[in-house]
Amino acid sequence: MQKKIKDIIIAFDGHSSCGKSTLAKQVAKELNYTYIDTGAMYRAVTYWAIKNNFVQNKNINVEALKSSLKNIEITFQKDDTGKQSTFLNGENIEKQIRSLEVSNSVSYISELDFVRKKLVALQQAMGKNKRIVMDGRDIGTVVFPNAELKIFMTADVDVRAQRRYKELIEKGESVQFEEVKANIEQRDKIDQNRAISPLKKADDAIVLDNSRLTRQEQFEKVMNLIYEKFSIK
Ligand code: DC
Repeated sequence: MQKKIKDIIIAFDGHSSCGKSTLAKQVAKELNYTYIDTGAMYRAVTYWAIKNNFVQNKNINVEALKSSLKNIEITFQKDDTGKQSTFLNGENIEKQIRSLEVSNSVSYISELDFVRKKLVALQQAMGKNKRIVMDGRDIGTVVFPNAELKIFMTADVDVRAQRRYKELIEKGESVQFEEVKANIEQRDKIDQNRAISPLKKADDAIVLDNSRLTRQEQFEKVMNLIYEKFSIK
């Protein structure tokens, strides 16, 4: 029988490609909570910016993006197979937002204050009734500084690059390992050093380094922690 826990907010933050969303999804499913992938929201805005030609290499037409942002509606819905997917103005863009093209520009888009303002407000509204698992970079520090449980995830960069490379190859993308690793290092660097809401561990977050853990091991570790701290007797 499933154990009962209090209604809480669980925040997963951490470095790029260390499996935050996989673990957050597993935890949400186990608890029957809503899962929100905030990276997908920044990726959706990036996809929109690319599609509208607001991005040329690292140059972003900030004013054009700013004035068009009101036309964006990002939602999470189930696709035909029942998988939770990201929709932009009613279009399923789940596959497009995972491309290396979007990955290469997303950190520049997520540095913009007006983009963060809009997405953080949306995320806070999604969590107002608790029972939510949210993953990102600033969830425990900015979006929900009072979240009951904060996990900060990390892993060796080579382990992360290998996992992400395998995933992209399996999806049929033609990429090189070195290119994937460079993208991860570059994103970590920008995410940690940006002026607004940089990636950093909240003081009260628990660090989870999964370099040498299987998915099952990390899942059990987190579930034990949740039941230990939040079970209703
Ligand atoms: O989690 P992800 O790799 O899909 O996120 C894509 C990018 O979005 C990441 O490089 C940084 C940015 N991001 C952010 O700035 N704040 C968040 N809460 C989530 C993601």
